Amino acid sequence: MDSINGNEASELLQAQTHLYKHMFNFISSMSLKCAIHLGIPDIIHKHGQPISLPELVSVLQIDPTKTGHVDRLMRLLVHDGFFAKTHVHDESKEQEAYVLTTPSKLLLKDKDPCFSSFVQAMLDPKIFISWHSMGDWLGGKELTPFEFSDGRDFWDWINQNPEHRKQFDETMDSDSKVISLALKDCKSVFEGLSSLLDVGGGTGTVAKTISEAFPHLKCTVLDLPNVVANLTGSENLNFVGGDMFQAIPPADAVLLKWILHDWDDDECIKILKNSKEAISSKGEGGKVIIIDIVINEKTEDHELTAAKLYFDMNMMVACNGQERNEKQWEKLLLEAGFRNYKITPIFGLKSLIEAYP
Ligand SMILES: C[S@@+](CC[C@H](N)C(=O)[O-])C[C@H]1O[C@@H](n2cnc3c(N)ncnc32)[C@H](O)[C@@H]1O
Repeated sequence: MDSINGNEASELLQAQTHLYKHMFNFISSMSLKCAIHLGIPDIIHKHGQPISLPELVSVLQIDPTKTGHVDRLMRLLVHDGFFAKTHVHDESKEQEAYVLTTPSKLLLKDKDPCFSSFVQAMLDPKIFISWHSMGDWLGGKELTPFEFSDGRDFWDWINQNPEHRKQFDETMDSDSKVISLALKDCKSVFEGLSSLLDVGGGTGTVAKTISEAFPHLKCTVLDLPNVVANLTGSENLNFVGGDMFQAIPPADAVLLKWILHDWDDDECIKILKNSKEAISSKGEGGKVIIIDIVINEKTEDHELTAAKLYFDMNMMVACNGQERNEKQWEKLLLEAGFRNYKITPIFGLKSLIEAYP
């Protein structure tokens, strides 16, 4: 090895730490998955007060010889912000105990929204294994690493197996419940509309919120026939089976929540053109309301961009979709024939894009 000075040595050691941290990032994901598998967030919640390590181990019903291992798992999860440690007094002695943090409150099975299924679905071995083929896939012809490793298109895999479909719909449902919290306050977005079509609206979580918050609005969810087959609506909410690539029924506005990031540019332009046709059937006016990620590396927080870039890679690996920056959104919208758009970043990771014909 070349001789190096003190500064270079310190830089090299920092670089080594950086490398090791990223090499081991999966350990954070897997430890989180393990905590969900064991039901640790629910155990702490049900305990009703901070829970000590021996109490946790006893509820987990695992072998006491594994107490030290649970301690180490919890130490990492505390470090990663999923739990916190506090001090409790027990029989005159003070001991440490675990409490939930806001991120682990999002994992409670009997609370809404619950993201446990989301984490488990994203770390499903079937999906996880496709990440191993990313390098080989880049040299091959398959559309996605998922297809490279499984032989099937991601959507076929989801739709051919009711269990996968159910888990997928649960993941979408948890995300939609968070979006719904903010949507109720977006009165101006729905003002003047009398009908809304939620294209690819899944089991209708968002459309249900909108239909309840705006009772004058007639809401329709369009999704694949197998998704909407057994769903019942309400006075101003109904479900129709169809294919957004074929035709989208007429409405004052079309909602596309977390749809366009699933598809490549040509497919997005097709969906957007069909949406534009749907809203233009009554003449000029109407709009397409898109809820999706807009990457903005220059101005946003490093952690927020990281989460968006992870989603982007996830879309690449699973289904040939992508997350886009404003320039890329503009290109899509203009090519689909829209003249104007407005972006409002109101949903944490996602933004609201209103597109006008
Ligand atoms: C990522 S999910 C988003 C679901 C929902 N909008 C949400 O955000 O919770 C994509 C949805 O598009 C639906 N989808 C896929 N291909 C479709 C097609 N050709 N026509 C209509 N819906 C489709 C899927 O069944 C799925 O429910």
